[in-house]
Amino acid sequence: MSEQAGREAVRAHYEELPYPARDPEDERRRLVQDSLSEFALVDHLFWGGRRLDAGGLRVLDAGCGTGDAAISLAEQLRGRGAEIVALDLSAASLTVAAARARVRGLAGIEFAAGGIEDLPSLGLGEFDYIVLPGVLHHLTSPEQGLRRLAGALVPDGGLGIRVYGRYGRAGVSQLREMLRILAPPGESTAARLSAARRLLGRLRPEHPARAYAGEWERELRENGGPDGSAALADLFLHPLERSYTVPELYARLGDAGLRLTAFDAPAAYEPSSYGVPDAEHLAPAERHALAELLNGRMEHHRLFAQRASASSPPRARADDESAVPAWSRHDPEGERDRLLAAGADLAAGAGGLSRPLRPSALGLEILRRIDGRRPLGAILDGIGAAAGTEARGRARREWERLHRELGGSGDLVLNPSPDPEWRPAPPG
Ligand SMILES: C[S@@+](CC[C@H](N)C(=O)[O-])C[C@H]1O[C@@H](n2cnc3c(N)ncnc32)[C@H](O)[C@@H]1O
Repeated sequence: MSEQAGREAVRAHYEELPYPARDPEDERRRLVQDSLSEFALVDHLFWGGRRLDAGGLRVLDAGCGTGDAAISLAEQLRGRGAEIVALDLSAASLTVAAARARVRGLAGIEFAAGGIEDLPSLGLGEFDYIVLPGVLHHLTSPEQGLRRLAGALVPDGGLGIRVYGRYGRAGVSQLREMLRILAPPGESTAARLSAARRLLGRLRPEHPARAYAGEWERELRENGGPDGSAALADLFLHPLERSYTVPELYARLGDAGLRLTAFDAPAAYEPSSYGVPDAEHLAPAERHALAELLNGRMEHHRLFAQRASASSPPRARADDESAVPAWSRHDPEGERDRLLAAGADLAAGAGGLSRPLRPSALGLEILRRIDGRRPLGAILDGIGAAAGTEARGRARREWERLHRELGGSGDLVLNPSPDPEWRPAPPG
């Protein structure tokens, strides 16, 4: 398939079945969230938590689809004067995204029809943060796409990327191949969707693809629309997709002059999380590759990247009492506060890697005081004032454990003490 034909096939696919299927009216009852669009996490990773207050943010949702990331980021940045651009090839998808923004009363999103490949000629300017969820693996030339995106970043800007994982995607790849034989792309979408439904219903219980059935069912329910078709087509009938191993991701980022900043859930990419502690001497790229193999079934990778030449923001050590702990995940419904107030389990991590975490009584005291403004020392002082010096010492040790666990799952970040002199890097 030529580049132009590939891109046209992808556009036509999403013109017919915008993905994810979203009813704008649902905006009245919930906000769809994903770790790539958690601004507190993004701010921490690229700017040490100091960027939001500096103002003037520009964000691009590249391949926005029906707008999940653009809407989530616009909500979190509401009233902050941020400019958000949502770009997609599919006019039908942009229409849904714009309707969602209207229901929420979000006026500051610019919707742009076009391709990532066209960025240099679209005149959209440079961005502090570009989010690219579920898009890179559908580009006819991901290499060129990444270079274009890297070129649209300000010098200290960041990218958030979600791509299919090779090993976790193996079952889906087999089903895609079966369907290509059974119901080739020349047939109508309705006929191909029926073939996909029949095939899923008949897959023998021992088939390795069955291991992922729970994931597909969730995908169809949450993102497929009333009859699941949008997700079924996105999963099994897509005209153009590839998947990545960790070493391939490293290589593609390097080719585009980028480097990996972090995975969204760092602990999932550490061999020690899979009971293999003797890998600590390895370079990060090797540890991450090994962890992917140890996990064996990562269906997606969510990662953050920045220009290879960008300087790293200041980092705080876990024992720095002037540093400021912050929750990474926006909590518009106050769900986390409710769980903390009730002393209930927290869900640490997101998506398939989420697991329950029951904080100790002292842990709860610490977590309840985290507001993204109060330094660690003030949190510990608060506990000391209520329960004595000895409790303060124990709380400090408990904090180190929480920082390891909730930092590793991507739920909690520790930002260095705010610096009143700090300004974002000038465009250059
Ligand atoms: C799987 S959907 C993901 C949508 C959205 N990012 C999300 O995570 O919900 C992929 C989207 O990328 C868009 N897309 C694919 N290739 C593109 C390109 N070359 N330029 C811009 N958008 C593209 C498609 O139109 C589609 O809406």
